[in-house]
Amino acid sequence: MSAALPLAAADVYDAQRRLRGVAASTPALSHPTLDDIAGRSVVSKAEALQRTGSFKFRGAYNAVAALSPRERRRGVIGASSGNHAQALALAGRLLGVPVTVVVPHDAPKAKVDGARALGADIVAYHRQRDDRDALTDRLSVDHGYTVVPSSSAHAVMAGAGTVALELLWQAPVLTAILVPVGGGGLAAGTAVAAKHINPNIKVIGVEPQAAADTAASLQAGQLAELAAVPDTIADGLRHTSPAPLPWEINRVLLDGVVTVTDAQIVQAMGWAFKHLKVVAEPSGAVALAAMDGLDLPPGPVGVIISGGSVDLDAFHRLVATPPPRKEPALA
Ligand SMILES: Cc1ncc(COP(=O)(O)O)c(C=O)c1O
Repeated sequence: MSAALPLAAADVYDAQRRLRGVAASTPALSHPTLDDIAGRSVVSKAEALQRTGSFKFRGAYNAVAALSPRERRRGVIGASSGNHAQALALAGRLLGVPVTVVVPHDAPKAKVDGARALGADIVAYHRQRDDRDALTDRLSVDHGYTVVPSSSAHAVMAGAGTVALELLWQAPVLTAILVPVGGGGLAAGTAVAAKHINPNIKVIGVEPQAAADTAASLQAGQLAELAAVPDTIADGLRHTSPAPLPWEINRVLLDGVVTVTDAQIVQAMGWAFKHLKVVAEPSGAVALAAMDGLDLPPGPVGVIISGGSVDLDAFHRLVATPPPRKEPALA
């Protein structure tokens, strides 16, 4: 099915081989209270427990490991709200490759500190004023760095897809997977891998209500662009439009996109903490937030808790505020 798409299941299996013994095999967790809330069995893939705290390590390592010796010597550059920055920093450190990361001025401190501590050079830009991609490209040309995008790259999507391979090995009975969508790389890798294993499985993207660029694009049947940088606590998902390469896959393979409010995201962070003993950051909790009220046939659902990089103060501030509930809707 995925022959004409810019990613094949074979690429994801290659990435899995490269990541063996390097990436953590994260647990698939469940709790009866979450099953009761969802009205079905829920299996949560705890990528918050991945190295550097998110699934991003899988794609970053896979991309850096695939570089030629010359490219490795020159170094890599990536633009990121933080998780890809930390992931790239660790991949570079493990493989002896210099790393520069371009981060927004308002990126969470925990993420920027994490990347710096792993030896990355940090370049900050202003989300509203600066052109992130132009800055990244200029640095890449000036210094000979290879750009490793956070989602719109073949090797990055392949690495991300290994989450689904692992999840379906741990829980083969799943009939649907809920996956957070930012640029769309995780969703694209998930869809390619999951539908290769089970062509009938539903793969549903989840976006914050304020950052529903992929939902809008699916509805329009073409890439849609939000008018302004989305205002949501899910800092990793603040995209104004889907990344081009993942979009080519998601437009074909995703079975829908649901949206969740920031209040729902905070509630899900509380569920993950209380029932799974997992610290989820807002971007990492969106899929868990969407499991309640899904318009899907009955059956066990997989939920990717994609990251856990959150400051202690921010986590406490967020979960201490009881949120009102709203139902998500299939786009
Ligand atoms: C924790 C977390 N989850 C999900 C995503 C979205 O991933 P993608 O850009 O591949 O859609 C990100 C992106 O930074 C993230 O940090």
